[in-house]
Amino acid sequence: MSAVQTPANDRLAESLLAFWAEAGVNAMLLDTPVDRIEAGRIAPPRAPDRTSSAAAPRPAAPVGPDISEQVAAARKAASEAGDLEALAAAIAAFDGCPLKFEGAAQQAVFSRGNPKAPLIVIGEGPGAEEDARGLPFVGRAGQLLDRMLAAAGLMDRVFITNTVFWRPPGNRTPTLAEQAVCAPFVERAIELISPKYLLLVGGASAKSMLKVDEGILSLRGRWFDWRSSDGRLAVPALPTLHPAFLLRQPAAKKRAWGDLLTMTERLDRTESPA
Ligand code: URA
Repeated sequence: MSAVQTPANDRLAESLLAFWAEAGVNAMLLDTPVDRIEAGRIAPPRAPDRTSSAAAPRPAAPVGPDISEQVAAARKAASEAGDLEALAAAIAAFDGCPLKFEGAAQQAVFSRGNPKAPLIVIGEGPGAEEDARGLPFVGRAGQLLDRMLAAAGLMDRVFITNTVFWRPPGNRTPTLAEQAVCAPFVERAIELISPKYLLLVGGASAKSMLKVDEGILSLRGRWFDWRSSDGRLAVPALPTLHPAFLLRQPAAKKRAWGDLLTMTERLDRTESPA
């Protein structure tokens, strides 16, 4: 049955959509299932058809077993970026991560904060609000993160980014392959900023940055050395709990707060003259 478009039906549709959004429904599912594990393996990207009109369907996500080409392309683009502005432009122009063609608005979300920060905060990946605004950690979880950073005296001392730069559909966790393709850009940001420390927010960030397979509840609060892929750079990194988890489990805030205070104390010690 096809609905007739009338102003009354439009209002009904708008109010239904608003109800769904309020209830947290922020992704549309396809009729046929998509194998995300297979999709996460990523094949050479098909260049999107830039000549097609805005109404044309989005290109299908590249699928396949090998991500080496995408990683090499990301590494080349990242290494050519001489500053953070050029890096942001390189990320926006990069077509090798399939999330770019699956996420809600196809907007790259790179960073916010102090470009000379002694601390880089690395989250998992953008959500709906971030996708809409083009900035990381600006939704409810981001607001909690900001309040905690401010209370710990870290707010002006952070540069904030994520392991992937496009919103995973339905806010699913990014796959390791998607994170691996975006990693050269994260690595280049670390190289350009040269921070004293990294704060890895949530299990998906900690696991991909540290290349470990432990749960965040056992990783958090422990210091690790993050190393660049060529081993030239090493930065001390502290995993902590994700603010979205803290919104669901407020009792865990105490542990995350302890991690932030540990970070502040270490940063203060490093930055104050001996
Ligand atoms: N969660 C993340 O991990 N990153 C964001 O930018 C927003 C929510």
